[in-house]
Amino acid sequence: MTVRAKARRAPPGRVAYVDGRYLLHGMASVHIEDRGLQFADSVYEVFFVSDGKLMDEAPHLDRLERSLDAIGMKLPMTRKALGLIMQEVVRRNRLTTGFLYLQMTRGVAPRDHAATDAMRPLLILTAKPVNSQAIETRRAAGVAVVTTDDIRWGRCDIKTTALLPNVLAKTEARKRGAYEAWFVDRDGMVTEGSSTNAWIVDGNGVAITRSISDNILPGVTRRVALDAATAAGVKIEERAFSRDEAYGAREAFLTSATGGVMPVIRIDGKSIGDGEPGPVATRLQALYRALSAANAAP
Ligand code: PDD
Repeated sequence: MTVRAKARRAPPGRVAYVDGRYLLHGMASVHIEDRGLQFADSVYEVFFVSDGKLMDEAPHLDRLERSLDAIGMKLPMTRKALGLIMQEVVRRNRLTTGFLYLQMTRGVAPRDHAATDAMRPLLILTAKPVNSQAIETRRAAGVAVVTTDDIRWGRCDIKTTALLPNVLAKTEARKRGAYEAWFVDRDGMVTEGSSTNAWIVDGNGVAITRSISDNILPGVTRRVALDAATAAGVKIEERAFSRDEAYGAREAFLTSATGGVMPVIRIDGKSIGDGEPGPVATRLQALYRALSAANAAP
């Protein structure tokens, strides 16, 4: 389908924000010399919107600032102003349940690898409605995961749009009939999913997820789920686990803004536990939702 045909099919009134302007989603575009396109010289965030509210807004913005700082960029406006623009995009899209995508590129400039301070950052916001029932159906069934070599760079903690290894891994997962791919490092340890953090539950009911380092994205859902679990007395360990340990786990699950806490029932074709979503994952989802709703902007 052509871009124009797609634009015509876009839901009426879907609106994007690009560099100071609210535009019809189908007509919104960036310049061919935008550094996000040329070099993936850009960072991003994904917010879950529930009941028209941005979930976990503050920790997502904290991470955005951290990613920007790591690549020598700054927010081009105050956090308050950015928050107002995000709310306006949610409002103009009449978004009740869905996602808000934020990308910040280093801007448009004649192609040269080297960045300069003179470059003017470009902010892009898009909104996407989601069928929450479809997510709940998936959660009730659980998902399959396949493992793949972690071929990524040394700064996976920066939420950059340079996602080619993640794209290839997710594509491989879909081809192999799975929902997500888990990256495995050279030591046979799971790092994280292509767009999710990875968890297992051991035979003692301890929920285990890799500790934060340069090797994984510090997931906001991971953090909020950890806080909620700790407050509720769920046993937690932040440490690396191997692919073999995952195969033998009592439960496994994923966390992300897009899926919350999502049970994993198969890894590389092997059933995990009894092959059904487990009680720890189900409980953590309820705890996560409650805490993230409490943290939501008014
Ligand atoms: N992905 N790890 C990776 C590599 C991710 O891309 C993501 C998020 C996560 C989970 O982070 P959070 O809980 O903050 O969403 C972990 C987003 C959802 C995406 O790229 O669509």
